[in-house]
Amino acid sequence: MGYSSSVYKSAEDRLAQKRLNAQKQADARREEIYKRIPRARELEREIAGCGTAAVRTVLRGGDVVEEMTKLKEKNLTLQSELKMLLREAGYSEDVLEPRYSCPKCSDSGYVEINGRTVMCGCMKQQLAACACEEINRIVPLTLSTFESFKVDRYSKNTDPKTGIAPYYHMEKIYKYCRAYTQNFTPTSKSILMKGATGLGKTHLSLAIANEVIRRGYGVMYVSAPELVIRLERERFSRGEDNNDLLEMLTGCDLLIVDDLGTENHSAFTDSQVYTIFNSRFLSRKPVIISTNLTMAEMERDYSSRFVSRINGAAQKLDFLGEDFRIGMRNKQ
Ligand SMILES: Nc1ncnc2c1ncn2[C@@H]1O[C@H](COP(=O)(O)OP(=O)(O)OP(=O)(O)O)[C@@H](O)[C@H]1O
Ligand SMILES: [Mg+2]
Ligand SMILES: [Zn+2]
Repeated sequence: MGYSSSVYKSAEDRLAQKRLNAQKQADARREEIYKRIPRARELEREIAGCGTAAVRTVLRGGDVVEEMTKLKEKNLTLQSELKMLLREAGYSEDVLEPRYSCPKCSDSGYVEINGRTVMCGCMKQQLAACACEEINRIVPLTLSTFESFKVDRYSKNTDPKTGIAPYYHMEKIYKYCRAYTQNFTPTSKSILMKGATGLGKTHLSLAIANEVIRRGYGVMYVSAPELVIRLERERFSRGEDNNDLLEMLTGCDLLIVDDLGTENHSAFTDSQVYTIFNSRFLSRKPVIISTNLTMAEMERDYSSRFVSRINGAAQKLDFLGEDFRIGMRNKQ
């Protein structure tokens, strides 16, 4: 798990809120039941009394075993009387217990497995949800959708250089991305989006992110320069969540690395970036990379193993057309 501390904090806050709500609702039910069954209040008090008496017995010493057996029996009798009263009044036996949204961890976010405290599935889900909200704060995820992506803005005229009409080509890419999203699994193929600036690479990768998040998968979006900065920062802050970033980058269901080729290079970050991609390719986890670099420029800037790994693992999508940003500026 490599979420930022703000993601952890909001996930934990939300679980704490759920826990609190469950407890408040249980308290409200208890009050209502005490009114209808006054004996229930007495029984609960007596049950609590057994607990205190047990502690006192242990502290006092002496014939602990006999005393404890008696207390246990008394406790069981009181419990079964309480359950019977509740049943008779039409309640379920556990009506006084808080109803947590996750019974496994009682909305604490953590469970004990073989004596070890591990993160509960519900906390992981909550973290993924909060992480998506965080992406939303970095990039306007909601603006870049499949619906707002217009294929008819690409020219139907055949480009003399490539012999291809961008419209038909981009229509195929659009359809590929839509189908990719609909059939997405955490072992889907990776995608390499190549092409000049302003052709909709970021837009389509965010459209994919949008839908994949909506389908409940954990998506991480990062630009290559930001990735490198974060890896460097993590390297020098040997803090408690030191390996979190790497773990999240390698572990999330879909990693989107935008603007590959615009980042600074260093031996350390190059090898980290290679490790991240390689580990994902080996475990068949998808990455969507977008870049302005040509294959030749990629060969120049990255190790040949890196480029051949990407070549082997990713579906290449070559974006064609005219810079959309220029088109928008001309219209203004
Ligand atoms: N087909 C399209 N329909 C609607 N809007 C588009 C389309 N293509 C691009 N845009 C919009 O144009 C702008 C530039 O597109 P985008 O950022 O996706 O380009 P890019 O290929 O990622 O460019 P760069 O290589 O510079 O990162 C964005 O605001 C995007 O939403
Ligand atoms: Mg872009
Ligand atoms: Zn849980």
